[in-house]
Amino acid sequence: MANLQDLKAYLEEKKNKIDETLKKILPISKGYGRRVIEAAHYSLFNGGKRLRPILCLMGYELSGENSDEILIFAAGLECIHTYSLIHDDLPCMDDDDFRRGKPSCHKAFDEATAILAGDGLQALAYECFTHKELLKKVNPVNLLKAINLISKASGFKGMVGGQMEDLLAEGKKGSARRLKWIHEHKTMALIEASLVSGAILADLNKSEIKTLSKFGQNLGLLFQITDDLLDILGDENLLGKPLRSDLKKKKLTYPALFGVEKARSLAEDLAKTSLETLTTFGERAALLKELIIFILNRVN
Ligand code: IPE
Ligand code: IPE
Ligand code: MG
Ligand code: MG
Ligand code: MG
Repeated sequence: MANLQDLKAYLEEKKNKIDETLKKILPISKGYGRRVIEAAHYSLFNGGKRLRPILCLMGYELSGENSDEILIFAAGLECIHTYSLIHDDLPCMDDDDFRRGKPSCHKAFDEATAILAGDGLQALAYECFTHKELLKKVNPVNLLKAINLISKASGFKGMVGGQMEDLLAEGKKGSARRLKWIHEHKTMALIEASLVSGAILADLNKSEIKTLSKFGQNLGLLFQITDDLLDILGDENLLGKPLRSDLKKKKLTYPALFGVEKARSLAEDLAKTSLETLTTFGERAALLKELIIFILNRVN
């Protein structure tokens, strides 16, 4: 059994390890070209929960192996995620001036620098995924499979596709089907792939991976519904990003379509289903079970 305190200590420990790894892989900003590295550094550090890399480590740990072996791989997921946030905040997208408790990248630097910092972080992610250290620890076929999965989840058939549809749906009368599609693509896909990539690297069996994939889907959707709710109900100081940004942009969100109460009850249903999905893992999934409740009640 794990409790909330155990989970918080675990998240803190892993966040520190991910941060250390990110510091090592991000090039030093000096000489020509340093501005874009400074911008990437600015956006990467402080305030990020590191959920996606931590999910990857948790997927790996289900095998009983020490996840320090794949920290560099997990750090790559944070590079993809941070790139997506930098671009998401741009004036041509959500036009948000705050992120992770400080001015967004394009505000602290400028738009061109923010676009390039995002591009550079995406490339850096693949440098992480293909780092030669990993070949000492994981089966190369599994490594290829994991990279392939993340590429799909973050690209046209995943996050990028979802972000496109999110923008197209602004100000339109949306349907539940379209909304679910957007959330599944813009957010769920990378969350699911983060967890499953860790499990693939650890060589978990097919049926375990299938179960984790289902769990990751429920958790990913739950995560975006709570994000939508926080836009309305959150505390800006804790959240580190502007409140009511979705309302201002007339985004198609769960509270916008169903109302706050129904959105909250859908999130609770997803949390319940996620818990049930994990039963086959027994005690091995104790922290993952606690994580569901943590995400359901999160304040940032
Ligand atoms: C924000 O993600 C973007 C969404 C997909 C909702 P997080 O809430 O994980 O942001 P950070 O990384 O902790 O800043
Ligand atoms: C963004 O969703 C999902 C991404 C892929 C970046 P949101 O636009 O709701 O994320 P926030 O609220 O700005 O963090
Ligand atoms: Mg957005
Ligand atoms: Mg946004
Ligand atoms: Mg949001």
